[in-house]
Amino acid sequence: LITRAFRSQFVIPDFQDFIKDIEEMYWTAKSITDGKVASYIPQLARANSDNWGVSVCTIDGQRFSIGDVTVPFTLQSCSKPLTYAMALETLGPDVVHQYVGTEPSGRNFNELVLDHNMKPHNPMINAGAILVCSLLKSLDKPEMTLAEKFDYVMSFFSRLAGNEVLGFNNAVFLSEREAADRNYALGFYMREHKCYPDKTNLRECMDFYFQCCSMEANCDIMSIMAATLANGGICPITDEKVLRPDSVRNVLSLMHSCGMYDYSGQFAFKVGLPAKSGVSGAMLIVVPNVMGICTWSPPLDPLGNSCRGLQFCEELIKRFNFHKY
Ligand code: DON
Repeated sequence: LITRAFRSQFVIPDFQDFIKDIEEMYWTAKSITDGKVASYIPQLARANSDNWGVSVCTIDGQRFSIGDVTVPFTLQSCSKPLTYAMALETLGPDVVHQYVGTEPSGRNFNELVLDHNMKPHNPMINAGAILVCSLLKSLDKPEMTLAEKFDYVMSFFSRLAGNEVLGFNNAVFLSEREAADRNYALGFYMREHKCYPDKTNLRECMDFYFQCCSMEANCDIMSIMAATLANGGICPITDEKVLRPDSVRNVLSLMHSCGMYDYSGQFAFKVGLPAKSGVSGAMLIVVPNVMGICTWSPPLDPLGNSCRGLQFCEELIKRFNFHKY
């Protein structure tokens, strides 16, 4: 890092100027009062609407954070690209995509619908993510107990985040499981259509999905994960090769087309960056080969995306030419 600094070889050489823009954008978005905190899971309804944080981590490890960046939130659907990445690493894309498609669903994230092949449309919606949870296994130990699977995912997520330690919110997990009629319906609907690999224990699979949604991190931590994705799978903080480049490419492709709920097409049009949002108000945004960003603000628009997060992304693209096209 220091050598690069002396040689001015950073991917964003004028980082101080860049930070000034991020700060302005942060304060502009802070004044937004639109949106509603998700309430379909009672514990999520307790989130504080004022919380707003933005963290940036470049692929060469320059970092900047502003606002509520150390307050923990649950990953919710931001866990979906990460569990998908893990499945790709161990099973490869051919096996994973025997079970789950790569097409945007054009529907809400939890709709009771499968694609023409009677598979979930993609790994970024609930049905697809539940399916991915049933596939997950480690190379060292293909048959894992639920407890081992939990530890395996926690430590994998941690490696994506430069060995930062994630938390787990048990109250959200319990609340999530209590309020899960739709997810159970999806789970059984997929079992009816023989979507799962043989021997899948559906109850354990659902619990595992709720646990992944209930893992906790903060903006600082999640920006490192996004930066690992921006950096072809090598964590910029530890230099560890966590994901293969082809896994990262697949993850980013589906974040680009399916990551922002039923707003994904418009987001791809306006912002042109791979991103994933979750109902806790978090957004993972990847600027490939440049940086990872995490924004967090609980109030959501009617489609489920964070209002401040969206405004931030649109402003980012106005100020910098990060749109892919
Ligand atoms: O399955 C649920 O209801 C939520 N916990 C999923 C979270 C989420 O962010 C929605 N995403 N696709």
